[in-house]
Amino acid sequence: MRVPNHLAIIMDGNGRWAEQRRLPRVIGHRKGAETVQSVVSECLRLGVRHLTLYAFSSENWGRPRDEVDALMELLGIFLKREIRQLGSRDIRFTAIGELDRLPAKIRTILDQAIDETAGNRTMTLTLALSYGSRNELARAARSLAAKAAAGLLDPAAIDEECLAAELDTAGFPDPDLVIRTSGEMRISNFLLWQAAYAEFYFTEVFWPDFSTAQLHAALEEFARRERRFGLTGAQVSPPGRENGH
Ligand code: FPP
Repeated sequence: MRVPNHLAIIMDGNGRWAEQRRLPRVIGHRKGAETVQSVVSECLRLGVRHLTLYAFSSENWGRPRDEVDALMELLGIFLKREIRQLGSRDIRFTAIGELDRLPAKIRTILDQAIDETAGNRTMTLTLALSYGSRNELARAARSLAAKAAAGLLDPAAIDEECLAAELDTAGFPDPDLVIRTSGEMRISNFLLWQAAYAEFYFTEVFWPDFSTAQLHAALEEFARRERRFGLTGAQVSPPGRENGH
């Protein structure tokens, strides 16, 4: 099966999963963190080279203090526990977003995970933390403007490649497939620039219930899609290949 080189996931529905069971929302996040572990393992097994998970958005800072604290604590536990396993499984860990807004303690653990896994090559696991695409694009624009103002960059030379190189995702390939769980059909400020030609897959399943079988269903659907990147079918497919849908 053709697997996406870069899979990105909007992990949604932890809160509703818990509320349906009359449990505190944090239990949903805890269960969601378990799903993260199983999805990482399965992606590694299937040969996905880049996995990006939307773990905390810029907007999530506006949630009740208790929930934000609980999510940060979970993240710290996850990183401490995973860091050893990531190393032994040749997974490189990275993060995108406004990382300096994170609590100092989390920042330290995060930096350690990034440093310790920097040489790993089989898969890159990226967590989007305190991440919002508009914020990322604004920061990139600010950085280009500063370079131009300092005389280091000719404004006329700013092209798509130049802007992409200023984004948090610089050097990473664009996502091929974006999955969103929980039945919401929105992009919610996630990888707006990078997902320009991504395929989208939406499922009603809440993130804590997103099983290996659900992941396979999404990947099978992706393998059936015909990607054209704005070209005609004949341009992107070898001659004689049926165009499918
Ligand atoms: C969306 O559910 C999920 C989040 C805001 C956070 C995602 C966090 C995890 C999966 C657990 C921690 C992650 C790691 C990497 C350890 P929601 O709360 O928006 O659900 P709702 O829409 O049903 O309220």
